[in-house]
Amino acid sequence: MKPSLSVCLAALVALSACSSEKPQDPETRDRVQAFKSVLNTFEPLGLMVREKQPFDPIRFAELAAQLKDESRKPFAHFSTAPTGSSKARPEIWSEPARFAKARDTFYQHADQLAAVTAGKPALKLADVSPAYGQLAQSCKSCHDAFRRTVTE
Ligand code: HEC
Repeated sequence: MKPSLSVCLAALVALSACSSEKPQDPETRDRVQAFKSVLNTFEPLGLMVREKQPFDPIRFAELAAQLKDESRKPFAHFSTAPTGSSKARPEIWSEPARFAKARDTFYQHADQLAAVTAGKPALKLADVSPAYGQLAQSCKSCHDAFRRTVTE
């Protein structure tokens, strides 16, 4: 019996969906998940810095401490170059010293933001903006060097 037209069409759609992107390998999945947690903590800090939300020094300090903690997590998942789809550039593994430098700069600025905010309930937005800006810059410069804009 011949398959119906609709069955063939469904198979075609499924095939093209499969071939357009490889699945992520498990390490990439963990890495991306850890970066998403970093972003979830980073975003509300940014909203306060850009005055989209009222500045709350206690909350800001809590988020900064959490971010310091989370900043280390993605880097436990960079052991080997991905075999599935990923935005990680091969230079991460071919130029490890350069990548380590970008990572350490990020740690340093995450620590700095936490240090500036800890235990200071009278903190002002102006006190935290420079450290936040430097941290944001450290995300961006690593992304510019080591993250593709599209998944491959
Ligand atoms: C030392 C390098 C480095 C630093 C610093 C860094 N990232 Fe990334 N980030 C990467 C790489 C590489 C990937 C791609 C991971 C993959 O697809 O395998 C990535 C992926 C992500 C993702 C997953 C979604 C996507 O677009 O790929 C998010 C979200 C993210 N980063 C947010 C941040 C934020 C926010 C900061 C700073 C607070 C930050 N990253 C700092 C290297 C870095």
